[in-house]
Formats: sequence, structure tokens, C-alpha cells
Amino acid sequence: MAPGLSTKTRIWLQFVRFEYWLARTLLPRVYANDALICFNSYAFVDDPAFKRAYKRGARSLGNEDWYQWEWRVHVGLWAASSASKLEGDFVECGVSYGFLSSAIMEYLDWDRLGKTFYLLDTFSGLDPRFVTAAEREAGALEVSKHHVDTGMYVSSVDSVRANFAQWKNQRIIVGAVPETLDEVDSDAVAYLHIDMNCAPPEVAALHYFWPKLTPGAFVLLDDYANRGRDEQRLAIDTVASELGVSVCMLPTGQGLIIKPAG
Ligand SMILES: C[S@@+](CC[C@H](N)C(=O)[O-])C[C@H]1O[C@@H](n2cnc3c(N)ncnc32)[C@H](O)[C@@H]1O
Repeated sequence: MAPGLSTKTRIWLQFVRFEYWLARTLLPRVYANDALICFNSYAFVDDPAFKRAYKRGARSLGNEDWYQWEWRVHVGLWAASSASKLEGDFVECGVSYGFLSSAIMEYLDWDRLGKTFYLLDTFSGLDPRFVTAAEREAGALEVSKHHVDTGMYVSSVDSVRANFAQWKNQRIIVGAVPETLDEVDSDAVAYLHIDMNCAPPEVAALHYFWPKLTPGAFVLLDDYANRGRDEQRLAIDTVASELGVSVCMLPTGQGLIIKPAG
């Protein structure tokens, strides 16, 4: 479904992944991928339901898994599966081709749940109006443009619509967060995934959805503990502290908040 990566980007990815290959070759039982090297068990990769969901996620990229982020998907599936038992809809801010959300919808047999999955993205990269001065200074807009040009970010919503067409209970909302937030016509949200790679829309999304989150709802922050994304982490920490919660930093680079009851 995705148009595919440029040849230059493929070569670059091979180079970046060399260190993981080396780790796996020297230490055959470790998990080594996606900025994570771990000596503990990662038995989830052998679970047939995980395999099926992960494969469906990769289908959104055109059946070629150039993400290689099994552990992050495992965390996403766990959060989504736990959230599926609560009242409320699902929201993702920052969808791109739709890898994680497609995996979740496959895993949960989505239409059976009677919930709506709201999928928000510009589908054309970062919006220059919604980055901080420091992010701009650090080249976030050039990186985003490069990702769109090389196929690492989606550049049109058409392939995304085709990817999600198999499910009825989804709504794709095109445009920049925070401007599109009030198009999510749901009063209760059980799962919120925030993955926009820049602070202002991520902060806005957390602020906006917090009162709508069902007690026990899951907020997954894809880039919270990514090295080099301190701006996002500190901005989210400020909001979290205003809301009276803290973020659990995960070794996958993600952050997790569970909305307290009461
Ligand atoms: C890392 S990708 C998301 C990956 C996705 N969660 C997945 O499962 O593959 C980041 C996305 O955030 C989107 N984005 C960045 N700033 C945005 C904004 N202000 N509003 C909406 N989308 C935005 C980009 O267009 C890009 O598609």
C-alpha cells in the first residue's frame, strides 16, 4: 500500500541496522532492534496473534517491514487490548501509513468491539506552525520533509484510506493537530496514541483528551524516551505534572500514562 522507500533510504537503513545485526550475531539470544538491546525474554514474538497483527501492520507499509519495531508494537497491542475492555473510543494522533493502528485493529478484530478508531494526521509531515523554536532550530522541519520525500512518512491520505478500508468503525481526520482535535466527536476515549514527533501538537492532544479519558485509559507516547527528543519529553512532563500524573519511561523509547480512577 505504501509507495516504498527510496533506494538511498534503504541503503541508509541497512547501515543503521548493522549494529543490531552484530549484537544478534555475537549474542544470539538477545533482542536487538529499534534502539533497544535486551537480554530478557521476548517470547511475545512467537505468539501467533502477535505475528498476525504485526504482519497486518507491515502490510500498511506495502508488506515490507522497514520499521522493525516488534517490542513497541507489543506494548501498543497490550495497551490497546487492555483499553478494549473499558468504555470509550480509540484515537491516534500521528498515523502515517497506519502500522500500529492496523496491527491493533487486526489484533482486536476491530469492528466486533463497536468502538470508533479516530486517526488524525496531516498525512504530509510536520506542520511548520506547530513546532517549537528549538525544534525548528534543530532542523525538525527539514527532517520531516526528508521523511516525506524518501517515503518514511506518508505523503498522501489515499493509500491510508485504502489500508483502513477493511474496517467500518474508523474515521480518518486529515489536517494539523491541534486544529482537528474537535473533529473527534467522542465523549469517552479509552486509548490515546500520540506520535507526531514534535512537542506542541503532542501537548495539545494530551491536554484536549485528558478530560475525555475514561478512568484507567491508556495514553501511549511513542517518542517520549527517544534520545534527542528532550523537548517533547520535558513538555509532556510539564503537562503530566499539571494533571497530577507521571509518565512511565519505557526502554522501547515510549512513555505510558494510565489515567487514575476517581
Ligand atoms: C512517526 S509518524 C507516525 C507513525 C505511526 N504512528 C505508525 O504507526 O506508523 C509521525 C506522523 O505525525 C504526523 N504529524 C506531525 N505533526 C503533525 C500535526 N501537527 N498534526 C497532525 N499530524 C502530524 C506526520 O505527518 C507523520 O505522519
